[in-house]
Amino acid sequence: MLDSKVTKNGAVLETRIKRIAILFSGNGSNLEALIRNLHGKYFKKQGKFIPKDSQGFLIGGLEYEFIEATKEDQDAFRVEIVLALSNKAEAYGLERAKRLGVKTQVLESKNFAKREDFDKELVGILREYELDLCVLAGFMRILTPVFTSAIRAINIHPSLLPLFKGANGIKESFDSEMKLGGVSVHWVSEELDSGEIIAQGVIAKLESLEAYEAAIHQLEHCLYPLAVLEAISRDD
Ligand code: GRF
Repeated sequence: MLDSKVTKNGAVLETRIKRIAILFSGNGSNLEALIRNLHGKYFKKQGKFIPKDSQGFLIGGLEYEFIEATKEDQDAFRVEIVLALSNKAEAYGLERAKRLGVKTQVLESKNFAKREDFDKELVGILREYELDLCVLAGFMRILTPVFTSAIRAINIHPSLLPLFKGANGIKESFDSEMKLGGVSVHWVSEELDSGEIIAQGVIAKLESLEAYEAAIHQLEHCLYPLAVLEAISRDD
């Protein structure tokens, strides 16, 4: 989408806008990190991404480095988080989104007898927003092809995929014989936690599950905004 503004000296300034919706079910810490890092901000590509240590985490898989830009910048785009949608009315993420000025909506999944019916309603809502990307952030739903064939979406999972898929990724990674753990961002496909991987971040195991879990969430909050910028720019 393009946003046109006439400047004081009569020139027309056009900015590309990337429209994103975030789906979540609970706490919403990733939702908050995405809003704080991306919403209403301008970015531009700054060359190739070199796998690197970022905020203490090793991150790889991204193609480009992005930097914050200004609206005057010719190559810049602005990210707009146009909707934060929860399938549970009690999700704490709803408070976080409201506090940060992002529109919220609840679509109670428990009111739908069939997964396909919920997904159809969800797709109908999302289509109205003319999204560039749908971002799943702790959206605890198994999605049917009604959703996956209609919506371009990415997800974050707290393990180094393809290892430890499913709801207990953090605990299973921690209990495994692996010496390293991590986080993956991937395209959403019909099969759970199995779409093409966009980016991964790695951390070493820590002494307790609690400490490891806290570090995994810190890594998620660092990695996900970078991966969203990458995903919304893939077809530019
Ligand atoms: C995160 O660990 C994410 O990887 C997983 O669900 C959790 C959501 O946490 N898919 P939050 O709601 O963002 O705090």
